[in-house]
Amino acid sequence: MSKTLLVTGGSGFIGSNFVRYYLNRYPDDRIINLDKLTYAGNPANLSDFDDDDRYRFVHGDICDVELVESLVADCDGVFNFAAESHVDRSILGGAEFVQTDVYGTYVLLEAARKHEVERFHQISTDEVYGSLTEGAWDEGFPMEPRNPYSASKASAEMLVRAYHITHGLQTVVTRASNNIGPYQYPEKRVPLYITNAIDDQPLPVYGNGLQIRDHLFVDDHCSAIDLVFHEGVAGEAYNVGGENEANGVEVARAILDQLGKPESLLQFVEDRAGHDQRYALNSGKVRQLGWQPAVDTEESMRRTIQWYVDNESWWRDIKASDDYLAYYKRQYGERLK
Ligand code: NAD
Ligand code: TYD
Repeated sequence: MSKTLLVTGGSGFIGSNFVRYYLNRYPDDRIINLDKLTYAGNPANLSDFDDDDRYRFVHGDICDVELVESLVADCDGVFNFAAESHVDRSILGGAEFVQTDVYGTYVLLEAARKHEVERFHQISTDEVYGSLTEGAWDEGFPMEPRNPYSASKASAEMLVRAYHITHGLQTVVTRASNNIGPYQYPEKRVPLYITNAIDDQPLPVYGNGLQIRDHLFVDDHCSAIDLVFHEGVAGEAYNVGGENEANGVEVARAILDQLGKPESLLQFVEDRAGHDQRYALNSGKVRQLGWQPAVDTEESMRRTIQWYVDNESWWRDIKASDDYLAYYKRQYGERLK
């Protein structure tokens, strides 16, 4: 039987890739995308679905109780991607992170409970665990977030857990590592470096550049979400990592190398406050469900870089916007002077 699903934040990076992935995979289902279109939301990310009857865009806020209830009433399941998602912005000011990531999740959970949706899928992050030096986190590790973004995502997860235990809501959570791929807003490190390198602008490396991140190709994240939504155990969380660890200097060098740009573009700048040293996930639990990434480290970076090379107008429009220019000046003005 065909289903109608609510996707929140579907006009952002991962949400838009997920809508495309899902509708291609399940041609009989329908998706309602509720998105506020903050600076990070871009209708162009899903313009290929403008005339598709299976896709409906609703411009609105997940904190709007009436709107959310009216949409959830028609849905079989909810995927909550909507969030303020950038650590550096959360350091500049955290209010919107608490409002959207925490209160917005509460509003969605309440509506899902009232309307007894079959599944509520919370898109979370490895950052909820904090920072580690050795080994890898499994799902039993405590959440020890260290910046306002990761704290807001951990708080949202606490609410999801409570709604499962208290109200029996059929929740699942995925905690993914750093995604890369098409349509990522160029404030995040990888698209920022690619687009700066294309323009011969500096690649700002925070601190000593030795902090480690695990990279996951966005399509592999989408396939894990799909699997956990359909096969995951209610009340459980699942790590989704790419097992592609690299430090800041290695990431910068890989991008410069593929684009044929000089290493002199790499610039060490003042560190991020509270900079997490390393993220690493043990993804054994989701692999036991049958998931495995389809794209390896080199191929995921190669495809990502190529997409930005081929889609210059997409990111040039963003980089010319007032919001981006103001943010870039505030974040990098002093650092890169
Ligand atoms: P993004 O910033 O690109 O997109 C966020 C989307 O949410 C935007 O379209 C924005 O307009 C929308 N939004 C923001 N506030 C809203 C509100 N109040 N109501 C409705 N819509 C709102 O983010 P992303 O990188 O695509 O991340 C999506 C989700 O995945 C987030 O929950 C994030 O925490 C999680 N996540 C991201 C990564 C990553 O590497 N980017 C990794 C793991 C988990
Ligand atoms: P980011 O893409 O913001 O993701 P997150 O902080 O959520 O992991 O940053 C990834 C890594 O890159 C992190 O260690 C911080 C570092 N970084 C820089 O060195 N320079 C930059 O300009 C940015 C945005 C990030």
